[in-house]
Amino acid sequence: MIIAVDGPAAAGKGTIARALAQHFGYHFLDTGSLYRMVGLSLLRDGKTPHDEAAAVENARSLDVSRFCDADLRTEAVGAAASIVAVNPQVRAALLDFQRVFAQQSPGAVLDGRDIGTVVCPDADAKLYITASPEVRARRRQAELGAASYGDVLADIRARDARDSTRATAPLVAAADAVVIDTSDMDIDQAVAAAIAVVGRAAG
Ligand code: C5P
Repeated sequence: MIIAVDGPAAAGKGTIARALAQHFGYHFLDTGSLYRMVGLSLLRDGKTPHDEAAAVENARSLDVSRFCDADLRTEAVGAAASIVAVNPQVRAALLDFQRVFAQQSPGAVLDGRDIGTVVCPDADAKLYITASPEVRARRRQAELGAASYGDVLADIRARDARDSTRATAPLVAAADAVVIDTSDMDIDQAVAAAIAVVGRAAG
């Protein structure tokens, strides 16, 4: 069983994907962390995320044991991730790891931007989790604490634009994805809606 969970930043897809994995007893992969690891490595090496050669080299030699680095979750690293993610060679370097992960028994939930469209186009269930930019900015601001709402909203809009307009694997709902708009839902409602969709697919 392969479950693809895609959507823009801060729509709730990470929380929903984790809850799905726990509910159904499947493996879970936050694919954004792979791009974040590449972005973080560049920043730590004092390089710009626009350094394409360094980004590709980093993606090809990625050490997934660094998955738990606390700095991965910062907005700066999220922005760097979305810059390196534009590069098709970076994306290609990360593809095999994701596809092998998805094949695990008894199932796997992967969350990202292109899981249902590129990484696992034959996934058994596809969810596209979205919410308005304003709602996502409020949630992200609450998570981050101090940052200003205006800055967070601007960052979310910039990330949406970059993720949706890139040539390779842009952020888009797969034609066969079930769209869940969480703007007016709390997390329990959103998780329940997602479990219902996956439960139907699992038969
Ligand atoms: O989901 P998260 O915010 O951690 O992702 C960080 C960035 O990584 C995204 O803005 C996106 O540009 C990139 N990404 C991607 N494809 C994925 C997952 C993340 O391009 N499957």
